[in-house]
Amino acid sequence: MAQFPQHFLWGGAIAANQAEGAWNLDGKGPSIADVVRGGIASGQHDAVIDPHLYYASHEAVDFYHRYKEDVALFAEMGFQCFRTSIAWSRIFPRGDEQTPNEAGLAFYDNLFDELLKYGIEPVITLSHYETPLALYQEYGGWKNRALIAHFTRYCETVFRRYRGKVKYWMTFNELNNMNRMPFATGAVDADASLQIIYQANHHQFVANALANKLCHEIIPEAKIGCMLSLSTVYPATCHPDDIFETQQLRRRSLFYSDVMMNGEYPAYSRRLFRDNGITLAMEPEDLALIARYPSDYLGFSYYRSVVHKAGAQLQIDTGGAKGEDNPYLKKTAWGWPVDPKGLRTVCNELADRYRKPLFIVENGYGGVDEIAPDGTINDEERIAYGRQHIIEMAEAVADGCDIMGYTWWGPIDIVSAGTGEMKKRYGFIYVDKDNDGNGSLARRKKRSFDWYKQVIASNGEVV
Ligand code: BG6
Repeated sequence: MAQFPQHFLWGGAIAANQAEGAWNLDGKGPSIADVVRGGIASGQHDAVIDPHLYYASHEAVDFYHRYKEDVALFAEMGFQCFRTSIAWSRIFPRGDEQTPNEAGLAFYDNLFDELLKYGIEPVITLSHYETPLALYQEYGGWKNRALIAHFTRYCETVFRRYRGKVKYWMTFNELNNMNRMPFATGAVDADASLQIIYQANHHQFVANALANKLCHEIIPEAKIGCMLSLSTVYPATCHPDDIFETQQLRRRSLFYSDVMMNGEYPAYSRRLFRDNGITLAMEPEDLALIARYPSDYLGFSYYRSVVHKAGAQLQIDTGGAKGEDNPYLKKTAWGWPVDPKGLRTVCNELADRYRKPLFIVENGYGGVDEIAPDGTINDEERIAYGRQHIIEMAEAVADGCDIMGYTWWGPIDIVSAGTGEMKKRYGFIYVDKDNDGNGSLARRKKRSFDWYKQVIASNGEVV
């Protein structure tokens, strides 16, 4: 078995809106996640929150009140890092205030202190599908250039507050899902035109560059990355049309890392914009900022691969799009093909393309868990998924890929981003809660808990 570097970071990852709950406590304002019913892939969201309806983010798994118990369990597994997001609307409830909400800042101080108490490095996403709702309803989201200033004020606030506590940052979660999920990724209407989508992205690219600049100025020892969903794409056949279209489809994702990692709009984007009648409004300094402040590393999620046939329309989903059937791969209960080798392929592709460190910040198995009469949860499929992916990640390291770490998605059961369900569970720790919000929220270890503990203890040698 290949070796992992000595300082490889093992851990887990969640997002505020899928775990914290406490959606309107201690001064937090609503975010776009708080008006979504049925998950972000459903595209449905309410203009006004109906108190009689169930919104999964409102309580989620109550991490806000139970984080000490949860962090203790992560520490027991040996986590060296823990990725979560800061809920922007806990810090700036509407997003456009000049002064932050102290109670929101204090919550993350306490959370980071709790992690650091166990030697767990916080890895923080600044915006994970949870833009403050007012910035969508009153400003129209990221298509409005005003969001750059609001976002950078938020970034500066949290960089100043948490310097000395947080060394690893990421700006926007899965920005490349913007094409398919503009509401979640950019707080832009679901039926927005490509012109609006790419304009919103341009503002996000400038904001990303400014966040990188501020981060390095305020916390010189910090690393700040971008984050994309990079499930790999295979052509359905060796027909040249399938090959070419698959390459073009891949570019629709890699466009985002090309801009943020390389610091420039790639040459192929000129044709993409021309063919789609897109003209970007820019300020004179924008391209220089993007060039001057690229990302330090590429964080990405990898769950599965996708097969593409020329001319086929891809369906909307999180964690990659749904394409043609792959006869060589088994699927999860949610129809996601399980493709460990694809992770090795992606790592090699990205290492070649960017020559900067990679961080696998999401990988995991969403499945149904049964509690046996004796109270145990034997989640063998989750263990098998993790084992196979870690083996391929080790091969990628041996191939020469510079990988900083690995954070399992949802080490504790959380709300599914795509479907809003609790039934789709990723955790090594079970949470007693169902799709309708019933349950005691009690935590319980699954069999995979001890499996992951030994993976970390052996630095990936024993899987
Ligand atoms: C990623 C997101 O797309 O996939 C996470 O960053 C999400 O927020 C994860 O939870 C898994 O998707 P899902 O739909 O199974 O929760």
